[in-house]
Amino acid sequence: MSDTMHELHIPVMPGEVVRYLDCRGGGVYVDATLGDGGHAAAICRRLSPAGRLIGIDWDEAALQRAAARLAEFACRVELVHRSYTELESVLAELDCPRVDGILLDLGVSTLQVMDAARGFSFHREEALDMRMDRRLPLRAADLVNSLPAGELARLIYRFGEERWAGRIASGIVSFREKNGPVQTAGQLVEIIKEAVPAASRRKGGHPARRTFQALRIAVNRELENIASVLPQAARCLLPEGRLCVIAYHSLEDRIVKRFLKEQSRRCNCPPAIPCSCGGEGELELLTAKAVRPAAAEINRNPRSRSARLRAAKFKGVLKEKAGA
Ligand SMILES: C[S@@+](CC[C@H](N)C(=O)[O-])C[C@H]1O[C@@H](n2cnc3c(N)ncnc32)[C@H](O)[C@@H]1O
Repeated sequence: MSDTMHELHIPVMPGEVVRYLDCRGGGVYVDATLGDGGHAAAICRRLSPAGRLIGIDWDEAALQRAAARLAEFACRVELVHRSYTELESVLAELDCPRVDGILLDLGVSTLQVMDAARGFSFHREEALDMRMDRRLPLRAADLVNSLPAGELARLIYRFGEERWAGRIASGIVSFREKNGPVQTAGQLVEIIKEAVPAASRRKGGHPARRTFQALRIAVNRELENIASVLPQAARCLLPEGRLCVIAYHSLEDRIVKRFLKEQSRRCNCPPAIPCSCGGEGELELLTAKAVRPAAAEINRNPRSRSARLRAAKFKGVLKEKAGA
């Protein structure tokens, strides 16, 4: 299948991804956010039959689409239905604790947004769900209908960087008092439009974008997940192994940037104790600044516009892993 088929998610900066991962024929690569397998296909294309691709996603429907897309490749392909926060255990279970490259392409896929049953879109009248993995305990509707105004405002401000968070939270609470629970994306969009002053509604994209982003991040615990997977990924790389991360908004990118910067500093020991790391950071930063898609890619695939890619190389020596 072609990467540009409209019914599948179009991978962002696939050429840059395989270049930064430095894909080699017989290597082992992990796509920890497999999605529809677009990046995975670009990786598999560079692998020989001796190579191995391990794909992880917590969305079962995405895994099925990726399995069909990757069936044509000669390399070994293993797909795992888990959260990437379990990266180290997944790789240990596959008897492959260290690999040549790991990709994290954060956020949601186009098909997840387009699937009306998932409730990610503010363009359609659909139930407010937003769980990427249906086993997650809370839906967006549960947060919207149970949190007090103060907590809702904090959530929308923190995860959506929405300056009108307080007004939106008050609008939600008065809707609940008058009409009962907010059930659909359409109802929430109307509440937000009424809460945001007209002058602000006209600039900065759809007025509901930030609130929907905040709910999605909270439902899926996205920022905690990123903070949990990055150190695991660094520990799972072979010497010279590559980590490549694509973020789509500043909250994600800030965590990635800070982690890579800290891990590539000369010494990471706390200032109060003597240096025990030998004075070298374990990662070497390969991208001094975030890599952005070229204008032609943004024209072809407008969803790539906010993408920021960062990559690093593991330059440490192998230490025995506890329990490995
Ligand atoms: C932007 S899409 C990846 C698209 C993919 N690179 C492609 O080319 O088709 C992000 C994917 O990450 C998955 N995802 C998000 N958080 C996850 C987590 N904690 N564990 C596993 N998968 C996750 C989503 O379900 C989604 O399929």
